[in-house]
Amino acid sequence: MSSETITVGLGERAYDIHVGAGALARAGDLLKPLAKGVVPVVTDEHVARIHLQPLLDVLGKSGITARPIVMAPGEVSKSFAGLKKLSGALLDMEIDRKGLVIALGGGVIGDLTGFAAGVLKRGVAFAQLPTTLLAQVDSSVGGKTAINAPQGKNLIGLFHQPRIVIADTALLSTLPKRELLAGYAEVAKYGALGDAQFFEWLEVNGARALAGNSAAMVKAVAHSCKMKADIVARDERETGERALLNLGHTFGHALEATTGFSDRLIHGEGVAIGMALAFRLSVKLGLCAGQDAERFIRHIKAVGLPASIAGIPGSRPGTDELVAAMAHDKKVTDGKLTFILLKGLGQAFVTRDVPLDAVKLVLTES
Ligand code: NAD
Ligand code: GLY
Repeated sequence: MSSETITVGLGERAYDIHVGAGALARAGDLLKPLAKGVVPVVTDEHVARIHLQPLLDVLGKSGITARPIVMAPGEVSKSFAGLKKLSGALLDMEIDRKGLVIALGGGVIGDLTGFAAGVLKRGVAFAQLPTTLLAQVDSSVGGKTAINAPQGKNLIGLFHQPRIVIADTALLSTLPKRELLAGYAEVAKYGALGDAQFFEWLEVNGARALAGNSAAMVKAVAHSCKMKADIVARDERETGERALLNLGHTFGHALEATTGFSDRLIHGEGVAIGMALAFRLSVKLGLCAGQDAERFIRHIKAVGLPASIAGIPGSRPGTDELVAAMAHDKKVTDGKLTFILLKGLGQAFVTRDVPLDAVKLVLTES
């Protein structure tokens, strides 16, 4: 079985990401040095049904006393109500200030648990055991934690790095196909933003990874984590380069918002369309060759991801509505929209100098 360990080089807060098919079998040994007293395992109902007991067994074998806290699945838990429930349960367990909280789940559980751990007793250590592709390649790494506010997504949050990440790619076999594909958008993002060779590898191997080829999936996850780890180590607080990880997100968030954060469009699908729009906008502004944009769009369509606004089911969000939603996004500084655009495949850059007319034209044409 292939496995890889990647280090996020953050000095005294450095941590390892263990990627492998079956990596969870090593969770007891890996977590034992961090555990103290009762260890809460935060998860959601879907994940609990399938993956909780095997983890509890593994932890038990290493002498860790774990106690589950099961949240409702979905964004509904990444809320003040979810935080109230979770922090109450953690405090009731009288977790040690020097103890450990485990997050077993997708980005929702990871973001919520990381945030709760970050504020509880002024900061308790936590471990990320991501169970979705999106969480394995993106949300479990880098320490961004948050809950949503009525005013918008992820607006209440803090940076709180995990102490360890264990990404068991075998867990992805139980993930609904749509969620798997949505996570793949974030994998393709790494190739598009900074590694044309990786993108080329994905063109050959991406579909194999999605179809269940274990070695291909381990490589896809590990390479994505390595790219994110390197960026986070250089720019933990997103004062510069880390913003590249938001490729496709300004458009994507606006699409999610205007479709009501609903089943019509899940996050990774919004990111996929958002990246296609970022390529199209880059071509329109004369920054990127049309063939690079076409190549990117061809690949995401080939694996089954959407690449245009017209492909979203239901009534089409209007251009003005989308622009207004973008203006509400937290990627607005001094009233100017921030875009991640491309000079070509693997060559993303941050800009705040984009004519609104070109943005509107791309939205209308897509
Ligand atoms: P999610 O956590 O809601 O999981 C998606 C669905 O899959 C849920 O129903 C969940 O119960 C189910 N599930 C999870 N693992 C499963 C498995 N192995 N088998 C079967 N079902 C499983 O969604 P997500 O896409 O993982 O995360 C989305 C969240 O991540 C959003 O809130 C987004 O804002 C956040 N996010 C955070 C960062 C960050 O840097 N912190 C980055 C990207 C996204
Ligand atoms: N998901 C973007 C980031 O972690 O910065």
